[in-house]
Amino acid sequence: MTDLAGPRDHAPVPEYPTAGPSCAVPPVDGGAPPGCPARVALSGLGYQQTPSQLYRALRSEHGPVAPVLLDGDVPAWLVLGYAEVAHVTSHDELFARDSRRWNQWASIPADWPLLPYVGYQPSVLFTEGAEHQRRAGVITEALEAVDQFELSEGCRRIAHRLIDSFAGGGRAELMSLYAHALPMRAALLMCGMPMDGADTEDLVQDLRISLDAHEGDDPVAAYARVGERLHRLVEEKRAVPAPDVVSRMAAHPAGLTDDELVQDLISVIAAAQQPTANWIGNALRLLLTDDRFALNVSGGRLSVGQALNEVLWLDTPTQNFIGRWAVRDTRLGGRQIRAGDCVVLGLAAANTDPQIWPEGHVGAENSAHMSFSNGEHRCPYPAPLLADVIARTSVETLLERLPDTVLAVEPAELTWRPSIWMRGLTSLPVRFTPIVR
Ligand code: HEM
Repeated sequence: MTDLAGPRDHAPVPEYPTAGPSCAVPPVDGGAPPGCPARVALSGLGYQQTPSQLYRALRSEHGPVAPVLLDGDVPAWLVLGYAEVAHVTSHDELFARDSRRWNQWASIPADWPLLPYVGYQPSVLFTEGAEHQRRAGVITEALEAVDQFELSEGCRRIAHRLIDSFAGGGRAELMSLYAHALPMRAALLMCGMPMDGADTEDLVQDLRISLDAHEGDDPVAAYARVGERLHRLVEEKRAVPAPDVVSRMAAHPAGLTDDELVQDLISVIAAAQQPTANWIGNALRLLLTDDRFALNVSGGRLSVGQALNEVLWLDTPTQNFIGRWAVRDTRLGGRQIRAGDCVVLGLAAANTDPQIWPEGHVGAENSAHMSFSNGEHRCPYPAPLLADVIARTSVETLLERLPDTVLAVEPAELTWRPSIWMRGLTSLPVRFTPIVR
């Protein structure tokens, strides 16, 4: 386990020299030092806005690194510049992933809403150095062996079943019935669960509640059932291996324990589910609302690919990611960062940074966006490719089956979830000619 008690050995790294306000770290009470802009409350930001406008305004007021307040007025930094996000994510010796470094733990209450994302868990997400390479290596090798053609066929079968369940009605709410439902089942399929049956449906339901609880749900009980079911899955796959992700992770020479395996499986499924679901939803919204795509929607494979890529640049689901914790005092974007400070990766802001797009142009063929993050902890290869297969197959199959799909509300009536972390629609109501079978 990583020793966080003392200073770490590291090669000297130059401070990152960017222009920007050079305010010292504001006091913990959230006030701003003289001459510096006040901290921005992240929970108060205008989520319904276009991200490029929102982050442009923040950048022009605060520079590439903004002092912000998380829920409960807890101070942190939001990194808005592309070069600064690249710097943070590629210097693990300065900004690392183990949240136990945080200098604010003493003021965090037990019911703090961000605890599920920030509280240390012994999973691949929070490991560092050699231990991270061991854990991430197992995931990468297990995912590398996924046959992308088979995955696409599996997604197509899942898509047809989901569409069958609502195609007769002529109307559907696509976020819950399709965009969220499909990647969850695709992830379980890769893990070697059967495509249907009560066992799979129970796990799908418990994962949904754990990741995205609605009123009346009990996420703690659901999470416990997810852990139990995945423990049994690991036992089953150790006893009878099959060509699936869980069997490959269990058989990997790195020798993960059952607990480590279950932790990392939960990380893989959760990391796959929410961003891919909102990627699909945001791309469907673009295809259904933007005139540039309207003529091509019914047959256009090219336009689906363009929509998916444009979303990663302009409307990424992984809007902001928490985060990294400063290993030692350093400077970033003209700011003084103290050891233990929390740094939020502003991935959406980085993607639309005028420093990289001075003309405001976003290159459709370019994939140098930050939506999959960057550096040691970035979304591990080949997960982005698999996510692309899942998202592309979902969108294409829907448009093939229901080619006259249109929005059932005015575009301006669509609302975004009230979250600064994951950008996704609360609902996507559509109508189409009912399919009578
Ligand atoms: C098949 C689908 C996917 C799988 C299996 C997957 C898997 C993972 C895993 C295992 C991690 C943890 C990496 C680590 O800490 O070392 C991760 C991180 C991440 N993934 Fe993915 N992912 C998927 C789809 C996506 C999509 C669609 C997006 C965004 C559009 C995304 C964005 C990210 C980001 C931003 C991180 C955080 C990286 C960081 O800490 O800097 N992922 N993913």
